[in-house]
Amino acid sequence: MRRPFAIALLIAPVLAHAGPMTYMVSHGAAANPITKLGWGLLGLSIFVATFIAFAVLIGIWWKRGDGGYDNRGWPVLSHGRNGLPWLTIGVPISIVLLLLSAIWTFYVLGVAAAAPGHPKITLQVTGHQWWWEVRYSYAGAPQRTFETANEIHIPVGVPVEVHLTSADVIHSFWVPQLAGKTDTIPGQMNHAWLEADKAGVYRGQCTEFCGLQHAHMALYVVAQPQKAFDAWWVHQLQPATASPSGLAGEGETTFNARCAICHSVRGKPGSMGVLGPDLTHLMTRGTIAAGTLRNTPGNLAAWVSDAPAQKPGVDMPAENLTGPQLQALLAYLQTLK
Ligand code: CUA
Repeated sequence: MRRPFAIALLIAPVLAHAGPMTYMVSHGAAANPITKLGWGLLGLSIFVATFIAFAVLIGIWWKRGDGGYDNRGWPVLSHGRNGLPWLTIGVPISIVLLLLSAIWTFYVLGVAAAAPGHPKITLQVTGHQWWWEVRYSYAGAPQRTFETANEIHIPVGVPVEVHLTSADVIHSFWVPQLAGKTDTIPGQMNHAWLEADKAGVYRGQCTEFCGLQHAHMALYVVAQPQKAFDAWWVHQLQPATASPSGLAGEGETTFNARCAICHSVRGKPGSMGVLGPDLTHLMTRGTIAAGTLRNTPGNLAAWVSDAPAQKPGVDMPAENLTGPQLQALLAYLQTLK
């Protein structure tokens, strides 16, 4: 094995801690007890496996006597005793360790499921094949409701309640650094909560097999200082009222003819589709296609011309757009800031 490759293999687990989707490091009150449990059980497993490996090695190395068997049928060891005491010690130790692990696990389940007092923000997340619909609302204030997709923003240090459901099959919502897994089930409302104690972008992933593109059903949680979050919130609440002219104007016509049957752009009566993600502030999102592609003009062009080529099985059909139509549509999409 080449040396750099061997070194890379050795340090990969260390680097993974800094990676976007690690579950060994957490940054929120809802996830911290789970991470501690994960480390605790990992440590315990390593200890038990090492102890047993050594015991087996010692057993092999320590020659048995040829003294035959005692009157209960146990082989007599070279020092004249059988191995029964190890059994009577080992079984209770295993039982105690397993019981302690179970008690710790149940405790963590209870803590992770408990709601955090009065959440300031409530969102509803709906799983779709294969993307996440995110709806922000304030109780009793429908004018303060907006929708986005695959990207959740939260203020740092504030508990956020998440209502979870599904539009089709069972998915599971998991942002390992901020919260444990919760299934999204059609016709049922489950609850989870998120809280980040550090600003950052946390990757989440659907973690219940839900079809062909299960692996491409990611989301991002962006934890921001309160001020930045408020600015984002105010911006997202605004409808897209601008009436683009020129190339972007032509693009809007194409959009209304081809895309608006599934997608909505708030403030545009011609685009009220509800099947696909709300695109009012598309350009503020870091990725498209549920974390599959970075939101760049090139990727956007590839996606709107032939989405199934990027993500086979997706509901969005390939659009047979001419070059000028595609250019115009891209120009319009880029006004959705
Ligand atoms: Cu949705 Cu797996």
